Amino acid sequence: MTKPIILTGDRPTGKLHLGHYVGSLKNRVLLQNEDKYQMFVFLADQQALTDHAKESEMIRDSIGNVALDYLSVGLDPSKSTIFIQSQIPELAELTMYYMNLVSLARLERNPTVKTEIAQKGFGESIPSGFLVYPISQAADITAFKANLVPVGNDQKPMIEQTREIVRSFNNTYKTDCLIEPEGLYPANEGAGRLPGLDGNAKMSKSLGNGIYLSDDADTVRKKVMSMYTDPNHIKVEDPGKIEGNMVFHYLDIFGRQEDQAEIQAMKEHYQKGGLGDVKTKRYLLEILDRELAPIRERRLEFAKDMGEVFNMLEKGSQSAQAVAAQTLSEVKSAMGINYF
Ligand code: TRP
Repeated sequence: MTKPIILTGDRPTGKLHLGHYVGSLKNRVLLQNEDKYQMFVFLADQQALTDHAKESEMIRDSIGNVALDYLSVGLDPSKSTIFIQSQIPELAELTMYYMNLVSLARLERNPTVKTEIAQKGFGESIPSGFLVYPISQAADITAFKANLVPVGNDQKPMIEQTREIVRSFNNTYKTDCLIEPEGLYPANEGAGRLPGLDGNAKMSKSLGNGIYLSDDADTVRKKVMSMYTDPNHIKVEDPGKIEGNMVFHYLDIFGRQEDQAEIQAMKEHYQKGGLGDVKTKRYLLEILDRELAPIRERRLEFAKDMGEVFNMLEKGSQSAQAVAAQTLSEVKSAMGINYF
């Protein structure tokens, strides 16, 4: 019996932070270790180039960093195929054929792309590659005949677009060689979304409000000590607020079953007054350290031999390419452009 295929990936534009960890990495490792799926995880460097064309050095550095992040959280190249998008030319070729099945108006309607265009302030100079990236994402997904694509809610329009392309292609060329994928989304809007240290709804590189998987213990300590709590909780004896207090929010996310009694007691004490922020932060630090210390250690270990990390990526890319080449060949036959 063949296993359902999962494809997921990230744009390599920096290192991964706790938001990525809570929102997707943890889940990927769980899915990998369930052993029920065949998983492909990839670094979407070509997608990153669509809005960072002049920063190819940054993207190159990010490839090494994100690969280390992957390995250190427990993605395992002996179980999952980890690869780099740009090393699979078949993906660009598929994109080319799919482009003819998608109108410009359809691309311009994509809500996520619209938001990004506004955020990035492209003005009149939207790179055409950027507008087209949802089509290249469809190529990523279909090349591996992925059944399931675990992504955040902001990626729904990309899955929808991919499904449309699959239907259109299969219809146009009277084939069933492409598979319609399903998105695997977080259970609810808030789930898997980690706010920033400053209380902003989202942890992000541009806001500078994140803890990185690569941060050392001292950096994590400083960041936790700077976390947004309750601005009206001035003296220790003042009653404090739990809602919107990042320390308690993070405790809810990172606390395990066995921590629940302690967390509950702290919440009550804090609300009553008499519990200072330094104490709650020290406790959070312990909880975070339990999770992050092993990741940090593994990261340092893998980082000793970057040659080996890139070897792993090369091998992953080779086996991914074989899969994509098979799909491309089916696509070309369906289109009747297999001339020789
Ligand atoms: N668009 C995704 C992001 O910004 C990255 C990505 C590119 C992706 N191709 C994909 C995710 C295919 C899942 C499947 O995070």
